[in-house]
Amino acid sequence: MKVLTVLTSLFGAGLAANSTYYNPILPGWHSDPSCTQVNGTFFCVTSTFIAFPGLPVYASKDLVNWKLASHTWNHESQLPGLSWTTASQQQGMYAATLRYHQGTFYVICEYLGTPNGTVGVVFKSTDPFNDASWSDPVIFRPTKIDPDLFWDDDGTVYSATQTILLQTLDLTTGALGPINNIWNGTGGVWPEGPHIYKKDGYYYLLIAEGGTAQDHSVRMARAKSIGGPYTGYEKNPVLTARGTNEFFQTVGHADLFQDAAGKWWGVALATRSGPEYQIYPMGRETVLFPVTWNEGEFPIASTVKGKMSGWQLPAPTRDIPGNGPFVADPDVYDFPAGSTIPKHFLYWRVPKQGTFSTTAQGLQVVPSRNNLTGQMTPVELSGRQGLAFIGRRQTDTEFTFSVDLSFTPKQIGTEAGVTVFLTQFNHIDLAVIRTKCGLSLRYGAEAQSVSEPAPKSKTIPLPKEWRASGSMVRLEIHAGNRTHYTFSASRVGGDGQAIEGSKQVVSVASAKLVSGGTGNFVGSLVGVYATCNGAGSGTSCPAESGNAYFTRWRYTGEKQAISATEEVPSQLGHL
Ligand SMILES: *[C@@H]1O[C@H](CO)[C@@H](O)[C@H](O)[C@H]1NC(C)=O
Ligand SMILES: *[C@@H]1O[C@H](CO)[C@@H](O)[C@H](O)[C@H]1NC(C)=O
Ligand SMILES: *[C@@H]1O[C@H](CO)[C@@H](O)[C@H](O)[C@H]1NC(C)=O
Ligand SMILES: *[C@@H]1O[C@H](CO)[C@@H](O)[C@H](O)[C@H]1NC(C)=O
Ligand SMILES: *[C@@H]1O[C@H](CO)[C@@H](O)[C@H](O)[C@H]1NC(C)=O
Ligand SMILES: *[C@@H]1O[C@H](CO)[C@@H](O)[C@H](O)[C@H]1NC(C)=O
Repeated sequence: MKVLTVLTSLFGAGLAANSTYYNPILPGWHSDPSCTQVNGTFFCVTSTFIAFPGLPVYASKDLVNWKLASHTWNHESQLPGLSWTTASQQQGMYAATLRYHQGTFYVICEYLGTPNGTVGVVFKSTDPFNDASWSDPVIFRPTKIDPDLFWDDDGTVYSATQTILLQTLDLTTGALGPINNIWNGTGGVWPEGPHIYKKDGYYYLLIAEGGTAQDHSVRMARAKSIGGPYTGYEKNPVLTARGTNEFFQTVGHADLFQDAAGKWWGVALATRSGPEYQIYPMGRETVLFPVTWNEGEFPIASTVKGKMSGWQLPAPTRDIPGNGPFVADPDVYDFPAGSTIPKHFLYWRVPKQGTFSTTAQGLQVVPSRNNLTGQMTPVELSGRQGLAFIGRRQTDTEFTFSVDLSFTPKQIGTEAGVTVFLTQFNHIDLAVIRTKCGLSLRYGAEAQSVSEPAPKSKTIPLPKEWRASGSMVRLEIHAGNRTHYTFSASRVGGDGQAIEGSKQVVSVASAKLVSGGTGNFVGSLVGVYATCNGAGSGTSCPAESGNAYFTRWRYTGEKQAISATEEVPSQLGHL
């Protein structure tokens, strides 16, 4: 009774109860988050490297339900030609900063790995729920990566970058002012990912330090003048998982913002892998942590965990404009003719025109001459130009992804199937392939720079009744625990249902094959592909390769790991 009275009087006094929520808030490959709040709606951008469309902007009113609002880089012509000149698996769009100023949203970023080196880009929009609203970029020529954007009270615009350099930036011409090295951090490697905030008469500088793996940390300094001198916080780091047994490792690359009630929050990247840091197919994800930032003091951040308690969250709501999916929603797509390709689907670089379309038979994928791995030369076989792959992020520790495939290529060596894809050099595939003996299942993997050897590839002739014309095969990837994927195939009957008893488990693969390796900055996608494995000429396959048709695309998240030993249902905490 007494407790109840105390609680009632607390609420009566207007003291809001704290809330509980789960991390990550943006599960799956969502690194380097940068967020802001406008009128009670939160907006975040994350890195996409060479994936296209790039730089997704997510929106939320409750910090829990996040909807894909738009992609900042959503049409090739915003950066003509750059995508196909990018050779490496982890260049492209690095860490961006998202800010709102006087009615306009700005995303500043840098595109790495072009023949011209690093290209600085500033995209602008007055309606971030609409892809078409994002401008062509203002181009600038930065010295270092990870550009910040900060407006001082006198209207001067500054961009801080790695190392930590500060320059003025003209947002119309892209002209950069003289370089001022304002802070070197506290001695760790790679002082980067800077953000500047002005509060209580100080310029606060927040950076990432220690590199993006297990030594990652958030450190801060402040100065009375934007140009410095900056004094480091005596209690640095503000936040890190370094040297801990936390499940959420690599915590760093943070950004801070206030909710509409004035409470401070932070986002950072983290990897659900602790403490071993061995198996983390989803790579670096976005986590949220409450921040206490008292007047005249440095902010205090809460340790990042799976189950968090912090400031009261706004009331849960899915009332967000736009036509994108929420990040925790399942996929249920049949791709009827003329339907649009789901907004959260990604390509590995800009796709070749005509490769993907929705038809009466479902999603048509025209095979590419290069396969998922490609080879160094010639460029047409490298996968740099028009790889026929489309996927979505693995967003859940445990999930089932399946799709029905209709494919009868005449060209020997042509295949179409499903893949867990980290990069061109770390992927696990199950396909239907034409061999000399007819249609078969092919299972294989590419596993460079990981401690797990690639499994032996195997080819299994399809049972005779599966080969009947017009028949479909259901290919499935199931992660039933944190460490393994099960690849299986079933025969689909005329009614569109998998025929009972037809399911064949083809293989079980370790998620180590797609953890780190050649993709330590990215995270796994699950999706489909089609290739003639080098037949044909240029980037095109021979006509005999035919096209692959995919229908009944289903992705269902089942469980999220929130600690080394606990899992929660995937939708928990989401409406
Ligand atoms: C914020 O909300 C107020 C009141 O509803 C409105 O007048 C204003 O235009 C909004 N601003 C933005 C940027 O949405
Ligand atoms: C490369 O940089 C030069 C000099 O800044 C510029 O004139 C040229 O247009 C750039 N080329 C591309 C493809 O961006
Ligand atoms: C950062 O380190 C460089 C090289 O040691 C030094 O020249 C520079 O003065 C340092 N900058 C600051 C702001 O301390
Ligand atoms: C509520 O959350 C804030 C931010 O983490 C924390 O400082 C405060 O102590 C919490 N209050 C209670 C009653 O737990
Ligand atoms: C995870 O699932 C795979 C496939 O079913 C199985 O082989 C493996 O033993 C499981 N691991 C654990 C720790 O249960
Ligand atoms: C991928 O294509 C290359 C030719 O570009 C070929 O050498 C390689 O064997 C192919 N991989 C598979 C799994 O067929």
